[in-house]
Amino acid sequence: MSGYTSITAGDLDTATAYRLICGIVVPRPVAWITTVDAQGRVNAAPFSSYNYVAHSPPMVAINIGTRRGELKDTARNIRDTGFFCVNVATEASMETMHQCGADYPPEVSEPDALGIELLPGLSTPVPRIAASPIHMECQLDQFVALGRGLNTLYIGAVLTFHLSPSVYDGRNVDSVQLRPIARLGGPLYAGLGEIFHRPALQRPPGEPGENAQ
Ligand SMILES: Cc1cc2nc3c(=O)[nH]c(=O)nc-3n(C[C@H](O)[C@H](O)[C@H](O)COP(=O)(O)O)c2cc1C
Repeated sequence: MSGYTSITAGDLDTATAYRLICGIVVPRPVAWITTVDAQGRVNAAPFSSYNYVAHSPPMVAINIGTRRGELKDTARNIRDTGFFCVNVATEASMETMHQCGADYPPEVSEPDALGIELLPGLSTPVPRIAASPIHMECQLDQFVALGRGLNTLYIGAVLTFHLSPSVYDGRNVDSVQLRPIARLGGPLYAGLGEIFHRPALQRPPGEPGENAQ
């Protein structure tokens, strides 16, 4: 088919490559990550280069870029303490979550500055964000520097899930009630929009008769 713009990725400058990949890989869920620094100060920041990468045990991965050649507070805290908490960002908390993306100095705690209510961690020293209906307390499993070293992938094993009854019936997470917020390219966010249902074609992993992985 003609009319496509074909771009050799290796020729791109960093800004163009970032704009393209962030515009293409959409929608992205937002991990609103809390960490603590060596002094116990609580940090909160959003990350949308994020997904689950294993289910047994459950593992999530977040790509954290560098800022002016330095580690971001979240990355430094994860390396220093070995723990982080993923708070699921929702439509209701979008505004505050977005504000956490500002460039606060390391000594400023975003939850303090923005009045974010916290709940104590159960299996880690990292507090959870009360406005979020789902928290995953995680322990760092490994981190992997990628490409030219501007990005590092942090992989964590989930130690404890915390699920609000508003979104969890004891078996399933209700995506509609959760109202997760998604990040698009540039300054854009999106809600879920229309939901489509199709019967599953294979059994989920671990269920009787399972043939999928
Ligand atoms: C919705 C959203 C998603 C973001 N996703 C990422 C990401 O995936 N990786 C990253 O390095 N920065 C991401 N950022 C930028 C960080 O949140 C920002 O650099 C923040 O200041 C880091 O805070 P910290 O220094 O307290 O860790 C995102 C910002 C927003 C608002």
